[in-house]
Amino acid sequence: MDEKQRIIYLRDYLHEQNRNYYVLNSPVIGDMQFDQLMQELTMLEALHPEMADPNSPTQRVGSDLKGQFTQVEHERPMLSLGNTYSREEVAAFYDRVCTAAGGKIDVTAELKFDGVSISLVYDNGQLTRAATRGDGVRGDDVTANARTIKTIPLKLTGDYPSHLEMRGEVLMPIKGFEEMNRQRTDIGYEAFANPRNAAAGSLKQRVSSVTASRPLDCMLYYVLTDERDFKRHSESLEAAKGWGFVISPNYRLCHSLQEILDFIDEWDTKRHDLPYDTDGIVLKVDDLGLQQKMGLTAKSPRWATAYKYKAEQAHSKLLEVTYQVGRTGIVTPVANMEPVPLAGTIVKRASLHNLSIIRELDLHTGDTVVVEKGGEIIPKIVGVDLPLRPSGATPIDFPKTCPECGSQLVREEGEAGYYCQNYNGCKPQILGRLIHYVERGAMDIEQIGEKQVELLYTNGLVKTFADYYRLTVEDFLSLPGYQMKSAQKAYEAIQQSKEKPYDRLLFAIGIRYVGSTVAKSLAKTFTDIDTLMNATEEQLVDAQDIGQKIASSILSFFANSENRQMIEELRSFGLNLSQKAVETASDALAGKQFVVSGVFETIGREELKALIEANGGKVGSSISSKTSFVVAGENMGPSKREKAEKLGVQIIGIEELEKMIGGEQKTEADA
Ligand code: IVH
Repeated sequence: MDEKQRIIYLRDYLHEQNRNYYVLNSPVIGDMQFDQLMQELTMLEALHPEMADPNSPTQRVGSDLKGQFTQVEHERPMLSLGNTYSREEVAAFYDRVCTAAGGKIDVTAELKFDGVSISLVYDNGQLTRAATRGDGVRGDDVTANARTIKTIPLKLTGDYPSHLEMRGEVLMPIKGFEEMNRQRTDIGYEAFANPRNAAAGSLKQRVSSVTASRPLDCMLYYVLTDERDFKRHSESLEAAKGWGFVISPNYRLCHSLQEILDFIDEWDTKRHDLPYDTDGIVLKVDDLGLQQKMGLTAKSPRWATAYKYKAEQAHSKLLEVTYQVGRTGIVTPVANMEPVPLAGTIVKRASLHNLSIIRELDLHTGDTVVVEKGGEIIPKIVGVDLPLRPSGATPIDFPKTCPECGSQLVREEGEAGYYCQNYNGCKPQILGRLIHYVERGAMDIEQIGEKQVELLYTNGLVKTFADYYRLTVEDFLSLPGYQMKSAQKAYEAIQQSKEKPYDRLLFAIGIRYVGSTVAKSLAKTFTDIDTLMNATEEQLVDAQDIGQKIASSILSFFANSENRQMIEELRSFGLNLSQKAVETASDALAGKQFVVSGVFETIGREELKALIEANGGKVGSSISSKTSFVVAGENMGPSKREKAEKLGVQIIGIEELEKMIGGEQKTEADA
């Protein structure tokens, strides 16, 4: 390999290592090795200035590499736990602790949450520091990000100690994880492999609004304070509930080995009904005096241990790996296996999520694979039964061409995934974009769903977004399944979508990496489409929430003349291509939290939310004790009403809201 080839190789390799470290949170090489390779690349690039590249990993040092978080020292080391895997080992643990106590003792049995551990420090009832475990002695200061997790209290209640450390686990509920992965792959990002990686990656974001947008929860399980004379661990957990922490209700004080084993058996099945992943049970001596007496080993306390459940596994033969093409052209591998029963269902497909997973498994054709079912609906392949690999098996490699349209697949610099570049000619991409355009959260054209888009497309009526606005009632009538009434409704729904705000349109047109949150930020900074289309890379990167990757994607989107043409067509149909003045019309609703429920005759729900926000109010999605008012329209759900009444939250109508704002307020739509 000559020096130039080495530069290319190192760039690719270091990009991948960055990704392992920052995105997957599972570094493959050590810091020292990483630094050495980075130095080598810096030196080679200096020797070959003709190969300069702003996307080289060397150009990112200082922003996105080392030192992105301040390191902080833990007040007391964050230890890990010894593991046990059998009832015998559990019995041996119970024996040990009873011997130390000189008699039978109580042990708390808790669920072992499968997330990332966190330390939270509170001074005078205020969250002052949140840190990851790191190496146990020092961790990353992630305070700004932790503040965005709703189940981490920022202010304590009740009779809390003036200085307190709480330890617990940051988790991503399985449903939220699946939805997030769906959204990520939808806008062109690779999926996270499991909720734990997703939680870890989300906590280690440089921009805390990204963390805020992730569905994270926090469960606390350990109280550290010198200001209380707690005698028992369980007593400290109960006290912490009163200070505002979320403590799992599922821990149990066990008085004998039998009770411990019963708890283990009971939760082996019940844990699958929990909203988040658990991978075992944690046993802790309840008597804090005895904990003190037993002390610690270098790595873990002697007074606690973890019992790990065996994940349910099955072996099956890999038949083939197929590839799905998303609307952004990203290609996702799926393993197809011989059907095998596993944890109550027959499994025949497993998502491989991304190329790195295929590489890590070193998957070969004809392999016998080990499939596991965690909490997720879709099972995953966790290993290969190597002795059963057939002779002559070849490694599974990504196809070179798109399985749908046959055009060359490209792995872009710094990207892990492969993409089909045939933007205007690859059917799943075109269809995917057309479907995305009408979906909820985008242009929200309720009358037109996936099936209808397919019909419109296959009948040659819609190929571009603008084509939707060319449709006539007669066009719909020419399609199977449409009557006069439904055709008119569909036509009207499309016409109404022209009123949708600019940020919705920015999301709907499907720029890679531009999800709804990014679209909102873009609309705030680049208040009309022309400013956005003409923005330079520098201006884009300067904007809030926009990194290099998103900026490049926006630039290449608008560099495409067909996309510019599409915008012009949408303009000619009268769509909203600029942000209407909604910013702080007043601060009449400042400090108040609203929940909007039901339908309103005079105003759309989105417009109503925008109106509240424009006047300084906050809009939440579910009613809690923090909600100040529920704005109720027609058909407000009975359970919502009940909850509001139970919590004593006032229910108001639209007229009362208008009175609170005082006078005539314009909404986004008619401003
Ligand atoms: S107690 C000194 N309790 O498991 C005791 N840990 O394998 C420290 N974990 O680093 C931990 N659920 O991240 C404890 N109920 C629980 C837990 C729990 C999950 C994690 C924690 C710890 C790891 C050890």
